[in-house]
Amino acid sequence: MKGLILSGGKGTRLRPITHTGAKQLVPVANKPILFYGIEAIRDAGIEQIGIVVGDTHREIREAVGDGSRWGVKITYIEQEAPLGLAHAVMVSEDFLREEPFVMYLGDNLIIDGISSLVDEFRNDQPNSQILLARVPNPGQFGVAELSGGAKGEVGKVVKLEEKPKKPKSDLALVGVYMFDKNVFNAVKAIKPSNRGELEITDAIQWLIDQDYMVNPHIINGWWKDTGKLEDILEANRMILDTLEMRVEGKVDKDSRIDFKVVIEPGAEVVRSNIRGPAIIGKDSRIIDSYIGPFTSVNCNTEIRASEIEHSIIMENCRITDVGARIEGSLIGRDVEVSKSEFKPRAYRLMLGDNSRIGII
Ligand code: G1P
Repeated sequence: MKGLILSGGKGTRLRPITHTGAKQLVPVANKPILFYGIEAIRDAGIEQIGIVVGDTHREIREAVGDGSRWGVKITYIEQEAPLGLAHAVMVSEDFLREEPFVMYLGDNLIIDGISSLVDEFRNDQPNSQILLARVPNPGQFGVAELSGGAKGEVGKVVKLEEKPKKPKSDLALVGVYMFDKNVFNAVKAIKPSNRGELEITDAIQWLIDQDYMVNPHIINGWWKDTGKLEDILEANRMILDTLEMRVEGKVDKDSRIDFKVVIEPGAEVVRSNIRGPAIIGKDSRIIDSYIGPFTSVNCNTEIRASEIEHSIIMENCRITDVGARIEGSLIGRDVEVSKSEFKPRAYRLMLGDNSRIGII
């Protein structure tokens, strides 16, 4: 089997972070979201992984490399425009050849991994296997309608609809799909949707209509499509909660470290309180500050005389003397937030397009 990770897309709902970076590289517990997908596929015993890239291909190549770090071989596949998930499959035909494959959307995170699901696909050998999860807001996803299976069994897939106005169930399509070679006929047969994309949802519906075997699998574990700020912060909370305490940097005697906290090598904590689950990245300095639960501070960042909770702070930031607690925030690279000493007392901001700030 091969793996195919889709890592194009513009990430419009994560602007301004995605003006300058790929959404799949936003860090969750200090690791790019995309890496969790690569690891999940590798752990399912797949060594050849294609990554479909778009405008942000340079950055993704630089972050991921040739895959040797994970013991896999990565091939990059360029998609000239984001014309849909089924289009991404189409442009990957030369890489996939005739082999069955698992397709993984690069901004999805499945906490239990996909090994058992890939095994099930290998054993049952359907033409496609789709994963479904119950969600409170099905209209924002592809939605599956199943026929009633026998007691305790999942029924058959009757109909799939992409982001329906009136969802027929609460079963959302998770961004992980398994296919055999017949999907190439499907992606060539369908027409673009109203949003102008070749939808993978329509390609799977085509397989169903042609009587190919499409097996649904309802997952119960935690899953997230991390397209929005709130979802990234939730993913960060979930992953931080799985970390084991590890203190490799320096913590002085006037500091307090509680619960699951990771202090990476070269990091320094001085006269501060870190309450986990939290991670402080390599070479970062936390001075006279409070870092609260569910916070990730990436590398080479300095936080001085400030309080932060439930947030992600990326590399090379300086946060100094902020009078109120920062929370529920995603702060990009090389950002400075500090108390201004100038008179008159005022907020002084330099914000990129589509920034969002909440002031008190
Ligand atoms: C895509 C699919 C949708 C699926 C979702 C899962 O949506 O089109 O069917 O439920 O991924 O993450 P998109 O993220 O492109 O809006």
